Amino acid sequence: MHTISDIKSLRNLLNATRQAGNSVGLVPTMGNLHDGHLELVKTARANSDFVVCSIFVNPLQFGPNEDLEAYPRTLGEDIAKLAAIGCDCLFMPTVAEIYGDNLQAQTIVTVPELSENYCGKSRPGHFAGVATVVSKLFNIVQPNSAVFGLKDYQQYLIIQKMVTDLKFDIQLIGVEIQREAHGLALSSRNRYLSDEQLQKAALIYQCLLDIKKRILKGDDNFSNLEAMAVERLTDSGFAVDYFAICNSANLQRAAKQDCDFVILAAAQVGPSRLLDNVRFSLAS
Ligand code: PAF
Repeated sequence: MHTISDIKSLRNLLNATRQAGNSVGLVPTMGNLHDGHLELVKTARANSDFVVCSIFVNPLQFGPNEDLEAYPRTLGEDIAKLAAIGCDCLFMPTVAEIYGDNLQAQTIVTVPELSENYCGKSRPGHFAGVATVVSKLFNIVQPNSAVFGLKDYQQYLIIQKMVTDLKFDIQLIGVEIQREAHGLALSSRNRYLSDEQLQKAALIYQCLLDIKKRILKGDDNFSNLEAMAVERLTDSGFAVDYFAICNSANLQRAAKQDCDFVILAAAQVGPSRLLDNVRFSLAS
């Protein structure tokens, strides 16, 4: 596996691989790779000839009181995992390589509307940070396809809209959420949790499944269902940020005539803010 930190060397390598007729797949990550990330790399492997995984803890998507400094960095383990599953190239730039010497004076990519609610509301500037770094990675790597996890479903829709609006010629591939045996969605932030908190955190997925079941049975009092789930989680000690039943195409709050749903949840469990969602359609 090639391990590269500078843009020029990466471009030289990718020009050569493209000239040899290979398609390129990109998996952007912030490292601390778990099985969920490895599934993204496997998907890229199945869809492209040459796989680039990037590891970059992007300062622009962290708020001033968030966990940028504490974000788990496990580069040695990550390199071993990527090499073992046949990743062709790890791109691990420094902050200066991506942003130059003035992070504050950057050109920023913002995706309106989709970025405004849910995580966008609780983490002002977060999605502009994500869209900016992902557009830089797309320009640097110029992949044929790029793979993202669907746990960050709002992020996925925002990147999809950015690709459409900015005319990136890149196929986006979303990969289903990977879970612990008891249902908790895999996340780098699960690392901060004690065994007891890990067990407790599975309740988020149980609530999502329960509300999904009620909607499939015909309950369309969505605000009541949301309130029930928030109460159940709050009573169990979670600080719920949002639990929202939405139209899965545009993330507007679900309306009675909708058929395609996503239920988005974010809650604080001990030191970790956890995200999860379920997506489903009503049989027509
Ligand atoms: O989902 C993530 O890990 C990050 O938001 C991403 C897409 C790598 C951008 O920094």
